[in-house]
Amino acid sequence: MNICCIGAGYVGGPTMAMIAKKCPNISVNVVDINEERIKAWQSDDLPIYEPGLYDVVKESLNRNLFFSTDIDSAIDNADIIFVSVNTPTKTFGEGAGRASDLQYWELCARRIKEVSKSDKIIVEKSTLPVRTAEAMERVLHSDKSDIHFEVLSNPEFLAEGSAVEDLENPDRVLIGGHDTDSGQRAVNVIVDIYANWIPKNKILTSNVWSSELSKLTANAFLAQRVSSINTISALCEATEADVTEVSHAIGTDSRIGSKFLKASIGFGGSCFKKDILNLVYLCETYGLNEVANYWQQVVEINDYQQVRFVRQIIQRMFNTIAGKKILILGFAFKANTGDTRESPAIKICRELYAEKAEIVISDPKALDNAKKDLIDLENIKYEQDPYKASKEADAIAVLTDWNEYKDLDYKKIYDGMRKPAFIFDGRNFLDHNFLFNIGYEVYSIGKGHQSHLD
Ligand code: NAD
Ligand code: UGA
Repeated sequence: MNICCIGAGYVGGPTMAMIAKKCPNISVNVVDINEERIKAWQSDDLPIYEPGLYDVVKESLNRNLFFSTDIDSAIDNADIIFVSVNTPTKTFGEGAGRASDLQYWELCARRIKEVSKSDKIIVEKSTLPVRTAEAMERVLHSDKSDIHFEVLSNPEFLAEGSAVEDLENPDRVLIGGHDTDSGQRAVNVIVDIYANWIPKNKILTSNVWSSELSKLTANAFLAQRVSSINTISALCEATEADVTEVSHAIGTDSRIGSKFLKASIGFGGSCFKKDILNLVYLCETYGLNEVANYWQQVVEINDYQQVRFVRQIIQRMFNTIAGKKILILGFAFKANTGDTRESPAIKICRELYAEKAEIVISDPKALDNAKKDLIDLENIKYEQDPYKASKEADAIAVLTDWNEYKDLDYKKIYDGMRKPAFIFDGRNFLDHNFLFNIGYEVYSIGKGHQSHLD
């Protein structure tokens, strides 16, 4: 069996590497228009950082896992084509700022139609608005040839930083197909691939529209939990309740569950915001304005939380940060990834810059991306070593929950900083009493301030 995957990004690369590893009898060809990315997949320096990914790729590379820019041959030879291209928020025209930009998806559909000489199963791996499969079927079957394309939905639920673990042992795999003979046959083909390593009871099947909508809904629910606890973090700070204790107390209720209740500077990443905005747009399209407003609030609270964090920094530092050196500890949108797409650090740095702060950014994996994100800001400094970066700083803002930040020598850092030395924990994960006892002025999301000055 031959699989082709169009799009060698954060999803296409790892998912196909896992299929190749678990199914040595299947030939997996991952193709992309981005030559540099394809070269990187073939090298020792993979284009994305994911714990454990290197070994998974190396196990199958050039055995039954191939990366190439020869898209047409890969399409032509494939029995199954996964499409895993980007589906960003539209920046122009109708629905700009909310709707999904489907141009890359449609280009793929047109290419597939153009090149194919035999029947194929087309699998939506990208996250798409509900009923996209219908539009794709129209494009694919528009020239009325005898070739049959069966479109399925198989959304990806992996999270960055734990992609390999999530792919190896997912909570579930979802495959949506039409309730027709050819639809169900195609669903079974994909089920059989995953069944090589995933227990059958974790492989869910549904109709195409439910599958498409389940992906948007899952991301919306996850993001909504983060926004919900972030609203409570603001109330905690006003009332001397502690958000960690509140999260723990509510999370022990099995109906609520303990995951995704960590208060923070807000969610980042390439998908939560775009997928909720897409959901909002879809609801509006169907005239469901109340539903749209409900989900829109999840995004607005996320923006509010970032602005609120910057406001706390300014207020605590005597209402001016002009000329003050602030060390940004962590720029990635979460730990264990170099990805900075929609990272809260981008907005926070821009706000601090607008206040004329002197900014130095440290991150173990994300500095290259940070430089691109802030390319238009002059005089931002980038320094991998947090000790060097903290020299003569007035404040530290912890924006990513990198585990190694727990183990830094905060006494040594304190000694090299200007006084009073501030630390703002945007991830609420450091030992605040310990830091306070060293001498820091401490602020943490959902816990408020500990000050030697009041
Ligand atoms: P990405 O930007 O990392 O990768 C997409 C790739 O597609 C790029 O390398 C791009 O060059 C390529 N591409 C675009 N148009 C092409 C074309 N016409 N032909 C060939 N290649 C083309 O994106 P990603 O993060 O992998 O996300 C892909 C999809 O998966 C999105 O819909 C996203 O919402 C969804 N998703 C992402 C994640 C995640 O963790 N990043 C998780 C689940 C789902
Ligand atoms: C998320 C989902 O978890 C995946 O299931 C989904 O496949 C993916 O989006 C996608 O569609 O792209 P990801 O964005 O990679 O995965 O990472 P998450 O672990 O979900 O974290 C998202 C953001 O929320 C991060 O900025 C993280 O720091 C923040 N977060 C998460 C919190 O602030 N608090 C929490 O309790 C959990």
